Amino acid sequence: MSEKSFRSNMGDNIDDSTDSRLIYSGFSAEDVEVEYSLRPRFLSEYIGQNEVKDSLYISIGAAKKRGEPIDHVLFYGPPGLGKTTLATVIANEEGVNIRTTSGPAITHAGDLAAILTNLSAGDILFIDEIHRLNPAVEEVLYPAMEDFAVDIIVGKGPAARSIRLDLPRFTLIGATTKAGMLSSPLRDRFGITHRLQPYEVEDLIKIITRSASLPRVGALITEGGAAEIARRSRGTPRIANRLLMRVRDYAEMRCDGEINEETAAKALEKLGIDELGLDGVDRNLLLCMIDKFGGGPVGLDTLAASTGEESSTIEDVCEPYLLQMGFIARTPRGRVVTPLGYAHLGRAPQEQNGQISF
Ligand code: ADE
Repeated sequence: MSEKSFRSNMGDNIDDSTDSRLIYSGFSAEDVEVEYSLRPRFLSEYIGQNEVKDSLYISIGAAKKRGEPIDHVLFYGPPGLGKTTLATVIANEEGVNIRTTSGPAITHAGDLAAILTNLSAGDILFIDEIHRLNPAVEEVLYPAMEDFAVDIIVGKGPAARSIRLDLPRFTLIGATTKAGMLSSPLRDRFGITHRLQPYEVEDLIKIITRSASLPRVGALITEGGAAEIARRSRGTPRIANRLLMRVRDYAEMRCDGEINEETAAKALEKLGIDELGLDGVDRNLLLCMIDKFGGGPVGLDTLAASTGEESSTIEDVCEPYLLQMGFIARTPRGRVVTPLGYAHLGRAPQEQNGQISF
C-alpha cells in the first residue's frame, strides 16, 4: 500500500462531530498525521493486547503456510485502542495492499460492488464502523465474504436479470465500537473475532516512550514522565499520544525540553486533565450529579439538560470511563455517583434521612 493511498483513505474515518476535548478517544482531524507517523507497522512493534497479538501470529503464520489470505477478521472495542492499526499491521505482515473505507462512507450497494471488483487477490478491505453499513449494502457483503462473488442486477423491470461476478480471494477486516449493533448474519461470517481491551498503564508507558523516540515527536522523556502521561490517558493509546504531543510543547517552551514527572504533571494540570484522566467536562458532570441531584439517581436527558452537554457526549465519551473507574454506577432509576466518585472530588457522600445517598 502506498502512503498516499493510505492517507487519503484515512479521511473516510474521521468523526465529523469532532470533540475538541483532549481526552476524546474518537479519531479527529488533528490525529490523522500524528497517528500515521506513530503507528507500529508490524506485530513485533505493537505493544499490548498480547492475547490478540498471539492469536494473530498464529492466524497469519498458518495462512502463509497454506498460501492463502487469512480468514475475515472482526475487531471490536472502544475507540482509540488500535483497531485500524491492527488492520494495517496484518496487511504489512502479509505484504498485501489494504483498501480502507467506513460503513457510513459506502452509501450505495453499487459503491461496495465497485470496491470489491477492484480488489486484487490477497488484498485486505478494511471497513471501519462496519455496524453503520446500510442493510442494502450489507446484503452485497454476504456472498462476497462467503463465496467471493457479487450479484449484479442488469437491466430494469421484467427484463432485469442477475449476473454473478467472481471476486478474487480477499480478506475483509471489520471494526466496530458497537458489536451489539452488528446483524448476526454479518457477525457470523467473520472467522476471527477479537475484542480489544483498554491498555494497562505499563503498556501505555512503553507506547509513550516509543512514540517519544520517533522522529515525528523526538522528545526526551523519563520513565516518570511517561508514567504521569500514561496514568491520565484513560487506557487509550490515541489519548496517550495526543497528550504526549501537548506535554512536549509545554516542555519545550517552559523547561529544557525534557519531559519528566514534574513537567508532565504541570502541563497536564494546565490542560485541565487530572491525575486519573478526567477533564473539566467529566468533573462538572460528577459535580452536577452531586450538587443538583444529591448524587443521583438521575436520568441521561436530565443530566444533559442541566450540564448543557449533548446526551451522546455524556453517554459515549464521559460515561464509559466514569463507569470503568467506578465513579458512577447505573441503576434502573438512573445514574448515581459512587463513594469512589465522591472521594475523587474530595467530597463526602451526602446523608439523606440518615442514609448515605448511594
Ligand atoms: N501507538 C499507538 N498504539 C500503539 C501500540 N499498541 N503499540 C505501539 N505503538 C502504538
